[in-house]
Amino acid sequence: MALHLKRELGLFEATMYGVGIIIGAGIYALIGPAAGLTGNALWMAFVIGAAVSIFTGLSYAELSSMFPKEAAEYIYIKKAYRQEYFAFLLGWLIIFTGVVSIATVALGFAGYFNSLFNLGDNWISILVGGALIAILSFVNFSGIKETSNFNIIFTSITILGLLIVIALGVGKFGTVNYFQPSMGYSGIFTAAALIFFAYIGFEDIVNVSEETKKPRKIIPRALLFAVIISTVLYALTSISAVSLASPEALSQSSAPLALAVSNSFLGQNAQLLLDIIALFATAGTVLGILVVTSRMVYGMAEQKSVPKILSRLHKRNQTPHVAILLISIAAISFLFFGSIREVAEITSLGALSTFTAVNLALIWLRFTKPNLKRAFRTPLNIGKYPVIAFLGVFSNLFMIFQFRWPIISTTLIILAIGTAIYILHRKGYIGEAVERTTGINIEQT
Ligand code: ALA
Repeated sequence: MALHLKRELGLFEATMYGVGIIIGAGIYALIGPAAGLTGNALWMAFVIGAAVSIFTGLSYAELSSMFPKEAAEYIYIKKAYRQEYFAFLLGWLIIFTGVVSIATVALGFAGYFNSLFNLGDNWISILVGGALIAILSFVNFSGIKETSNFNIIFTSITILGLLIVIALGVGKFGTVNYFQPSMGYSGIFTAAALIFFAYIGFEDIVNVSEETKKPRKIIPRALLFAVIISTVLYALTSISAVSLASPEALSQSSAPLALAVSNSFLGQNAQLLLDIIALFATAGTVLGILVVTSRMVYGMAEQKSVPKILSRLHKRNQTPHVAILLISIAAISFLFFGSIREVAEITSLGALSTFTAVNLALIWLRFTKPNLKRAFRTPLNIGKYPVIAFLGVFSNLFMIFQFRWPIISTTLIILAIGTAIYILHRKGYIGEAVERTTGINIEQT
């Protein structure tokens, strides 16, 4: 009998899974630099991020109701454009930025861990980050239900942290003007592009569609609920943070939310609590990206876009163990990478490029495959024209233009490396080289 992924997730689990990937280390790390760009109007950057996410999220919901599959973006692009190279490149971008993000967020975890236990030194960070990736990869390997349980715990604690920030600041709500951006609206847009990282994940809900009950019905709802819940929490957290601490002070802190609550009546105790919660926030993000990235590799291997061995499922756990192992080794080797801000920007830019292509794929399929069954259709259509998907394309492109040149050029280099791997794999060189050195045929399951 062929092995399948297990269908275990319902609406609650799928929504929590989404909120779990959306809310994570991003807000804990990026709210500081973002506040430096927006002043007290920080919440506006999150509302813009939410709008971009909802437009694109609805496109994902429609596409996932047509093709409920792992490796979603890769499948959508392939079905829409019948272009293997383009699909591979987007899959590669998602995997690469995913792997680097895992490493960076794991280092964020190590930073909080070391400061709590007064450990110094870089190599301890690498050790702690490596141990975290190894442990969470094991959770990922153990089964989707186990992973989902862990995720619910991490998510709940991460959200609790934001609720604490909101509760400690609520008495000071209204003490500053939240409608005056300190650098005008261009500062708000730049901040929106930066904090977009905090929204990444909403689209990943569709990657567990093969593991969700009635996916055509549940996935679109879970996606919308997850973005709405996250936006409300982000906006209130922003208002609270700027009410408790000045945007300048937040922008200079490496733990801005902990700094904000240290100005509340609970002082240092609240700061300590937030430091501990940040451990769960970062661990949850690492676990979420590990799941998504390994499923992307699995899905691409099923389509023979990467070596077939990566689509192997573990007999008992029904998880893609070879893909999980590869991602965990790759992430550990990236532990030597740069700061969360740059990685967040590169990841956001990669995501926004993917989202532009996905929205275009939806528009294209409305014309080329009008009769294909769609259990969910995005609202607001003028004839065949899906207005929301057009808004998705424009809003994503607008955000892409907010990035600095070094971030854009790094992304282009990543795409060039992806192209080289694509060519080498298509010509069979990668399979041959591995077989020659290890004796393993990676093109067989
Ligand atoms: N959205 C995720 C986070 O903020 C990646 O950590």
